[in-house]
Amino acid sequence: MQPLPGFRDFLPEDCAARNYIFARWRDVARRYGFVEWDGPVLEPTDLYRKKSGAEIVDQLFNFIDKGEREVSMRPELTPTLARVVAAHERAFKKPLKWFSIGQFFRYEKQQRGRLREHYQLNCDIIGESDFAADIELIALCIDILRGFGLTEKDFVVRISDREFWTDFLQQQKLPTERWEEVLQTLDKSGREPREKTEQKLGKLAGPVFSIFDKGGRSGKLDRLVDGLGARGLAGFVDVDVRIVRGLAYYTGTVFEVFDRVGKLRAIAGGGRYDNLIGQLSDGAVSMPALGFAVGDVVLGELIRERASTREQMELSLKEQNRIDIYVVIAKEQRRADALEQIQDLRDRGYRVDYPLTAEKVAKQFQNAENTGARIALLYGDEWPQVKVKNLATREESLVPSEALLDSVAKFFRVSDPV
Ligand code: HAM
Repeated sequence: MQPLPGFRDFLPEDCAARNYIFARWRDVARRYGFVEWDGPVLEPTDLYRKKSGAEIVDQLFNFIDKGEREVSMRPELTPTLARVVAAHERAFKKPLKWFSIGQFFRYEKQQRGRLREHYQLNCDIIGESDFAADIELIALCIDILRGFGLTEKDFVVRISDREFWTDFLQQQKLPTERWEEVLQTLDKSGREPREKTEQKLGKLAGPVFSIFDKGGRSGKLDRLVDGLGARGLAGFVDVDVRIVRGLAYYTGTVFEVFDRVGKLRAIAGGGRYDNLIGQLSDGAVSMPALGFAVGDVVLGELIRERASTREQMELSLKEQNRIDIYVVIAKEQRRADALEQIQDLRDRGYRVDYPLTAEKVAKQFQNAENTGARIALLYGDEWPQVKVKNLATREESLVPSEALLDSVAKFFRVSDPV
């Protein structure tokens, strides 16, 4: 039996890599004062049909449940967030700064960097219309990626503004019901042949390509770049009006993050969606909002590609699965004594391993080396003394069993997890 296409098995090393990514995501989001929340992985299909836009609806993993409800595995978090905020906003002081880490499902065409499940960190600010929030959010997105050792040589945030395009469509006198379709075409234009975009745009093609070629100007985006410049982050951003974003609900600033070489799919994306909460609550609660999500798949590829970021991750993987102490049972008669002390050591927080059944002493020392243990404790003829071996220096000493805990503590720093 194979896993379904686009779904991953997470072997221990993959889980450790995932933990590494999640830990940094959490750490940096908290540095910005964001608090964690989560929603259900299954939602009514209508939530996405109404709010996410055509592209995502085509990609839903949806079915009818046993209560005849149309339901869908979540393809993204933003509609859920808008629903939850509309229902509970009175309970919180504004602005809300919320982050969430979870798994998402999209029935995508399989390609590099796009699977049918992936994890996202979502960070959103709700209840703040001031431009300061746009700058803060993009700074957070940059710092999330810098948290892995990535630099402005590795990635770029391309920022744009939906209003730039909606103003343009208004000038062109395009009826509003056609706006979403045109915005979707603009969003796809970077990934499709120019002729196809031209055909879809019809008479709009000329003016659109002229903007693409010349680069549109926007005072608002210049201010955004200045705001990031004041934090020393201007080198991480480019104004690029070709960024439109595929999701239907964006209303203002939008951005996407790409690798500098430009060979991978987007690493992150987000923007302002000032009308979504109002729409979802039928106007009962109206609140400006903005956010972004970064995925684990492309980010993981980027981390593995660069030697320094890969080494930083590998160090963490080793550390996560490392054992502190390996107990060598040289005489089976001592197994019960050893287990009593293993229990004490584990109670104190040490990571302790030992052979579950009788094994040759040499094999046990081999296991000790393989687990990365700092010390081995040998239970044998020396009992009631225990032989303590420093596995790095090979030094050995004999310690009375009742003094073992004190003796072991000397090998571990105060900051170690004891
Ligand atoms: P999105 O651009 O659809 O935005 O997804 C964000 C990121 O999730 C992408 O840049 C990519 O790294 C990752 N991602 C998306 N689909 C896949 C896939 N099939 N396989 C692997 N990675 C994927 C949103 O989802 C918005 N809801 C973000 C947002 C939050 N906007 C406001 N707040």
